[in-house]
Amino acid sequence: MTQDKITILDLGRMKAEGSKITMITAYDYPFAKIFSDAGVDVILVGDSVGNVFSGYDSTLPVTMDEMIYHTKAVVRSNPRALVVGDMPFMSYHVSTEETVRNAGRFLKEGGAQTVKLEGGINIKERIKAVTDMDIPVMGHIGLTPQSVHRMGGFKVQGKDDKSRRKLIEDAQAVEDAGAYAVVLEAIPADLAKDITAMLTIPTIGIGAGADCDGQVLVMHDILGLTYGRRPKFVKEYGNLKEAADASVKEFIAEVREGRFPTAEYTYEVK
Ligand code: KIV
Repeated sequence: MTQDKITILDLGRMKAEGSKITMITAYDYPFAKIFSDAGVDVILVGDSVGNVFSGYDSTLPVTMDEMIYHTKAVVRSNPRALVVGDMPFMSYHVSTEETVRNAGRFLKEGGAQTVKLEGGINIKERIKAVTDMDIPVMGHIGLTPQSVHRMGGFKVQGKDDKSRRKLIEDAQAVEDAGAYAVVLEAIPADLAKDITAMLTIPTIGIGAGADCDGQVLVMHDILGLTYGRRPKFVKEYGNLKEAADASVKEFIAEVREGRFPTAEYTYEVK
C-alpha cells in the first residue's frame, strides 16, 4: 500500500495529536530516498549545504541556483516526506517582489512543497507576501545562521530576559504572518517549551530541548560525515566517514595487490 504524501496539514494534525515531527536535511537523490523510505516526515533542503557539502565556513555564499539544483535532486527521489526548500541569504532580503519570485522558484523549478525563511518580526511582511501567494512558509528563529555576523558567531540565543522576550515576539509574528511551522534553533529548552505552548503551529527544534513538537538535525551530523565544529545538540547516530574510509582503503589495497578485478567483475568474449 502506498502511503499518501505528507502535507503541511499533517504537521498541524501531528501537533494537535502530540505525535512528534521528524525532519532531516538532504541535498541529493540517494539520501533523500533513504530518509523518506525510512519514514522521516520532512526533508529540508537546507542552505547548510554550504557548510556540509560545499565546504564554506558559513551559509552566506549559497546561491538560489545552487539551492534549486539540490532541491531538484531531492525531489527526483519522489519522497513521501514533505520537501522544504531553504531560501538562501539575499534571496528574500532586497524586496517583497524578489522574495515571492525566489520562493516561487522552489515550487515551480525545484518541485518543493514549501519554503523556509530565517527571521521574525523583521521579515513578517515577507512571510505574509509569500503565504498570500499560496506558497507555504516554515519560519526559523533563534540562532539564524544567515545572521552570523550580527550575532557575533554561532551563539545560543535567548539567554537573557530581553532576548527571551524578543524571541517570543518573533515566534508570534511568524505565526501571525501565516507560517505553518517554525524552527527554533539553539535556544534554552524552557523558552522553547513556552513558545511551543503559546503557538498553534508546530515548533521544530534543533538545540531547543525535548518539548518542541518535532526535531531536526543536519544529515551529515547524524551520519558522522561532518568536519570541524560540532555543536552540543548534535547526536551522531552512525559513522559513514569510517565506513567510507574502510571501503576505499580496501579498494586501493585490492587494486595494488592485483586482487581486483577478479573474473566476476570482468567481461570475456567466449
Ligand atoms: O540549513 C539548515 O540545515 C537549517 C537547519 C539547521 C534547520 O536551517
